[in-house]
Amino acid sequence: MKIPLFRLAVLVACITPGALLLYGAFVTGDLGINPVETLQHRTGATSLQLLLASLAITPLRKITGWSWLIKVRRMLGVWAFVYGFAHFMSYFAFDRLFSLAGVAEDVVLRRFVLSGMVSLLAMLPLALTSTKGWIRRMGGKKWQRLHRLAYVAAVAGALHFVWKKKVLTFETIAYTMSVLLLLGYRLVEATRKRRPSSTRQAPAA
Ligand code: HEM
Repeated sequence: MKIPLFRLAVLVACITPGALLLYGAFVTGDLGINPVETLQHRTGATSLQLLLASLAITPLRKITGWSWLIKVRRMLGVWAFVYGFAHFMSYFAFDRLFSLAGVAEDVVLRRFVLSGMVSLLAMLPLALTSTKGWIRRMGGKKWQRLHRLAYVAAVAGALHFVWKKKVLTFETIAYTMSVLLLLGYRLVEATRKRRPSSTRQAPAA
């Protein structure tokens, strides 16, 4: 597939859930019986899905050999933050009526709000340093190290969802399994790389 076309398709996929929400809110005026819940549910779920999609790029690329997948990883991560921020703002505006004290109280008293906050704050430096200029300024190694915060964001995001739902549903199991699989893959890869070359199997002649 041509890379610009692929990037455009992913961009459209990232924008569509937000565009549908705005369309429902301002054009048809139909966001269901509880518009705030719809807003919070869709922005939260889209943020988590895009975050997991961005983390799935590296394993997919290595398994399939489709190196061009890397072209959309940053885009997925940035949109995950955009939806996460919109999700937080809908909570801040409608649930907490723009009270920072109210948010602070929730963070202390409700573990699902604390984990949501950790997830969003972990994504913030990633979104801020997502440009080519920042990669150049920081150097590839440092940038990659900082971007390990994406794992923190994913674990905290999944915990946030599980703690919010409280019961095991198809969705909670699916998100938890996805995070475990994506992190497990990285752990296996890191262990394999760290193993001294003498203990690795010699390549077949
Ligand atoms: C400051 C940060 C955050 C706060 C205060 C917050 C708050 C909330 C609240 C109040 C709900 C419940 C909505 C309802 O009544 O159904 C919720 C649900 C949810 N949040 Fe967050 N959230 C935060 C960050 C995040 C982030 C960063 C993600 C994604 C990575 C996320 C993903 C979700 C998901 C998937 C749901 C469940 C939606 C549903 O099915 O009902 N949240 N969040």
